[in-house]
Amino acid sequence: MDNWIFTALSEKDIDEVERIEKESFSEPWSRDAFEDATDNGFHRIYCLKLGTENGDITVAYIGWAVVSGEAEITNVAVDAKFRGKGCGNELMKHAMAAFEKEDVEKVFLEVRAGNAPAIGLYEKFGFRGIGVRKNFYRFPTEDAIVMMKNMISE
Ligand SMILES: CC(C)(COP(=O)(O)OP(=O)(O)OC[C@H]1O[C@@H](n2cnc3c(N)ncnc32)[C@H](O)[C@@H]1OP(=O)(O)O)[C@@H](O)C(=O)NCCC(=O)NCCS
Repeated sequence: MDNWIFTALSEKDIDEVERIEKESFSEPWSRDAFEDATDNGFHRIYCLKLGTENGDITVAYIGWAVVSGEAEITNVAVDAKFRGKGCGNELMKHAMAAFEKEDVEKVFLEVRAGNAPAIGLYEKFGFRGIGVRKNFYRFPTEDAIVMMKNMISE
């Protein structure tokens, strides 16, 4: 994984992030939402890029917000062409390192109940289901599983 680069989202990444977001979710975040998130002080969005001889390609991103020692992961997506190649792993590894550095105690996220790849990824990093929000998602309607990782006991 020598030529992977993990870096804070910048204006020049937003076109690619917007494209990946639209191909990944039925209710994607808007461009404005990404721009606001990079601007509001408590949100962080990082991109995973592949360094090539023709320049860097943005292939994935992860976002979270930290408030009072608790983090919520708000965005995780990998370009469809790059899924199943370890990018999700790489995103989570970097996020976990950032949580440790920021002394985050608990990390929460929500995921569609039927999203086996994402649930598999989160479980691999020590997240466990702690609740269900009935019919939380639309297009299609589906329950959300609330997952949590306790950073202190890990
Ligand atoms: C979920 C997602 C981020 C995973 O990223 P990825 O780069 O494909 O994942 P990786 O190749 O790094 O795999 C990491 C782990 O995820 C899990 N995983 C990945 N694909 C999986 C699949 N098809 N089925 C079950 N588990 C899977 C496994 O635990 C895997 O670990 P392993 O390789 O040791 O088995 C990616 O599928 C994606 O972007 N999906 C669309 C957007 C989305 O659903 N985001 C999550 C919103 S909550």
